[in-house]
Amino acid sequence: MAICIYPLENTGHTRSSIKKLDFKCTDSKEEELYPELVKYIKQLAWKNNEIGGIARTFVACPEDDRKKILGYYTSSMSLIELKNLPDEVQESLPGYPVPALLIGKFAVDKLAQKQGIGKQLLKHAFETALEVSQKVGVFAVRVDAKDEQAKQYYLKKGFLSLEDKALGLYIPISTLKAAKAEQEAKQASEINLSLLSN
Ligand SMILES: CC(C)(COP(=O)(O)OP(=O)(O)OC[C@H]1O[C@@H](n2cnc3c(N)ncnc32)[C@H](O)[C@@H]1OP(=O)(O)O)[C@@H](O)C(=O)NCCC(=O)NCCS
Repeated sequence: MAICIYPLENTGHTRSSIKKLDFKCTDSKEEELYPELVKYIKQLAWKNNEIGGIARTFVACPEDDRKKILGYYTSSMSLIELKNLPDEVQESLPGYPVPALLIGKFAVDKLAQKQGIGKQLLKHAFETALEVSQKVGVFAVRVDAKDEQAKQYYLKKGFLSLEDKALGLYIPISTLKAAKAEQEAKQASEINLSLLSN
């Protein structure tokens, strides 16, 4: 599905319209497994945005309908304690906690799951982290998975487990930088090839 990702406040929603949003993480017949993720987008995201500096919410919408929210994530700043990183990583770091961009909330509407929207939201979060890291120190992107299933999802997307934290994960900014450089090199070689074939 072709989607666009916007900051929540650029969707045309208001504080009251967002409360009426039809957004669920679980089948309507089942009990909602993630009520806090539904509550967050309907009641707290707007408020936290207005207060400023708590968390930014980015939403995925169909290209032709900004008010239909198919998924969202939040970003804010956080820290990773050294003891939560593997010994070999700790050795190369100063002796204090390191800064991280936290994906605090992350959800896709049940009807839109398994279509790659989560993947696109994560890519957006990674790009945000890379941009921020040009001006502010960011060692990694971190998340706290809600459950084992969510943890498996993050592991498949390249996150690593944090030590001493059953559901905590991180992906180093160095990994994201290397992936971006590789992607850019591939794109450049494709452009060169297409120039040669013309
Ligand atoms: C976790 C969550 C955000 C993932 O969102 P999503 O949009 O379904 O994720 P994606 O589509 O990127 O990937 C999901 C799976 O579908 C697969 N997939 C991706 N695109 C696909 C496509 N076009 N067709 C079929 N399958 C596809 C992916 O490979 C992935 O497979 P996997 O189950 O083997 O990992 C979503 O399932 C969700 O909201 N879950 C409930 C709340 C939750 O757990 N949030 C995280 C809290 S920490």
